[in-house]
Amino acid sequence: MDSDPRIKALRARLLAWYTRRRRDLPWRATRDPYRIWVSEIMLQQTRVETVLPYYHRFLRRFPTLAALAAAPESDVLAAWSGLGYYRRARALHRAARLLHAAGGSFPSGYDAIRALPGIGPYTAAAIASIAFDLPYPALDGNVLRVLARLENEAAPIASTAARRRLEAVARALLHPRRPGDFNQALMELGATVCLPRAPLCPACPLRAGCRAHASGAASALPVRRPQPPPESVEAVLVLVRRNGRVLLRQRPAAARQLAGFWELPRPEDLPGASLSPPLAAFHHAITRRRYRVTVVAAQLRRAPRGFRWFPIAQLPGIPLTTTARKALAAASHP
Ligand code: ADE
Repeated sequence: MDSDPRIKALRARLLAWYTRRRRDLPWRATRDPYRIWVSEIMLQQTRVETVLPYYHRFLRRFPTLAALAAAPESDVLAAWSGLGYYRRARALHRAARLLHAAGGSFPSGYDAIRALPGIGPYTAAAIASIAFDLPYPALDGNVLRVLARLENEAAPIASTAARRRLEAVARALLHPRRPGDFNQALMELGATVCLPRAPLCPACPLRAGCRAHASGAASALPVRRPQPPPESVEAVLVLVRRNGRVLLRQRPAAARQLAGFWELPRPEDLPGASLSPPLAAFHHAITRRRYRVTVVAAQLRRAPRGFRWFPIAQLPGIPLTTTARKALAAASHP
């Protein structure tokens, strides 16, 4: 395949474009596998612009694998608070502890990277290629969209048949000596040019070799299986303040979601309390649900069972649920 002139031209144009146009991102200015690992975990379900401030803060707080391994989990979750998908933070921390106990260095082979908690085939390929120049193609959603268009792939992107074909294309295209740049170039093209709804084909370095562009189908690809619409859910959160403190409860360690995070009470947690009219309202979307959250206030003298008074000044240091953080912010600047 390496002699295929179409493949060679696509690879060369993509890398030339990336060299000129790549965004100056902090994980592209380092070869430290720890820093590259943290970036790839944060980027798993989150956009680059959202990740950037968290990435800087996280690395100031935990500059090395040893610092992360030594930190209590609640500090790690507090630094992650707001990024969502906290399972990622827990797995990152668990992996740091395992590596630290085993000698402290980050593994340099694909299989050992893939075996770490929180690392699937995509993230293992991204880290192996970016940090260690190992030739593994990294296929995330953006990259699959680019490849589906390049090949005019008609099958649903989630189907095994489409995945197999696109993985084979990615392996053939991958630059054997610059796999990290190559993978990031495809991610970059997907994030900035080969956009989901309205691809910017006139700006695309791969336009001449793109089979979807040739057939006029680029914006209709990739084909997706139909998704059910998100479920709308109403929720009420109660702000109970007293002497500069606020009433919070910690979610159980075994909770399926947001274990260990601190949350605000709901009306059913405060039987008998009289609730104010709404102070504020906001939306909060998670994978399959769209919440409309109304914030109300109540006065209480004693904390109900399971709740604690928390000094408001200490809230930045604890893992707060995002809805609690949004509710506190919305109620103080409605
Ligand atoms: N998404 C996942 N990994 C990325 C990276 N290294 N650069 C930009 N976007 C990414």
